[in-house]
Amino acid sequence: MDLKDRVAVVTGAGRGIGRALAHRFHEAGARGVVIADVLAEDVASTTAELNAKRAGSAIGVVADIATPAGNKDLIDRAEAAFGPIDLFFANAGIGAGEYLDTPDDVWDRVMQVNTMAHIYAARLLVPGWIARGEGYFCSTASAAGLLTQIGSAPYAVSKHAAVAFAEWLSVTYGDQGVRVSCLCPMGVNTKLLNGTAEEGAVETNTGAATVKLAGAVLEPEEVADIVYRAIEAETFLILPHPEVKTFLERKVADVDRWIAGMRRLQARVNSMS
Ligand SMILES: NC(=O)c1ccc[n+]([C@@H]2O[C@H](COP(=O)([O-])OP(=O)(O)OC[C@H]3O[C@@H](n4cnc5c(N)ncnc54)[C@H](O)[C@@H]3O)[C@@H](O)[C@H]2O)c1
Repeated sequence: MDLKDRVAVVTGAGRGIGRALAHRFHEAGARGVVIADVLAEDVASTTAELNAKRAGSAIGVVADIATPAGNKDLIDRAEAAFGPIDLFFANAGIGAGEYLDTPDDVWDRVMQVNTMAHIYAARLLVPGWIARGEGYFCSTASAAGLLTQIGSAPYAVSKHAAVAFAEWLSVTYGDQGVRVSCLCPMGVNTKLLNGTAEEGAVETNTGAATVKLAGAVLEPEEVADIVYRAIEAETFLILPHPEVKTFLERKVADVDRWIAGMRRLQARVNSMS
């Protein structure tokens, strides 16, 4: 999809990868960019950055996308401002919870933000896209959704579910004009990876340390550029770290061998703590 003159909504766009995506889509000539996040100050600053470049080209919506109502309000406000949405990027995400003692309410929150939010948004958007004959749904999952997340069961499970939903959406509605892509990075230099719980970053320490061990930590702007080119080409799986494809191929080729290797990595992490 060529994003020129299109309308794009990005969730989790107050900061991090989402903010960089919003800037990249705006730079590509999107007519309207909608910045959605729970963090009101960050919504205001990202929106102001875009409007400073082109007045009236962005709106900010303070939204909790972990609820059906939050998604409905976001989509209604985006359409009221700019008309039908061409690209919806379900990017907001959190990392919380670690081992089997993770409380149910933490599991619920992670599943709502990292997985159910995508389903709530797609339910509202896909019927209109089928009627119009086109629309683009992108989600940010993670390499953890293809492989696993050392140190966080809720993150691994919610991101696998996000990948599964994106695949299902593409298989089911791809022939009716609905394009789907799924972004699966390893480390990206954001608060989710680097921050502390007090700052609102909820990626677990063990998980974050392992991600940093596993490969390069990319800048959000590098990821956004790769995403933009993948959307132009309409590529389903977006892998900013190319080695993730190799890891995935090794996993599929011999799952027992892959699990044995991941156990060795878990043992290394255990010996460090
Ligand atoms: N940083 C990494 O290393 C990395 C790696 C793989 C995948 N990811 C994924 O990338 C996405 C973006 O994360 P990031 O790294 O930019 O981190 P980030 O913490 O900087 O950004 C995430 C944004 O999502 C917002 N958000 C969280 N819950 C929300 C909710 N209920 N409603 C609306 N907004 C909400 C946060 O306020 C924040 O602004 C996430 O889905 C994350 O899981 C990140």
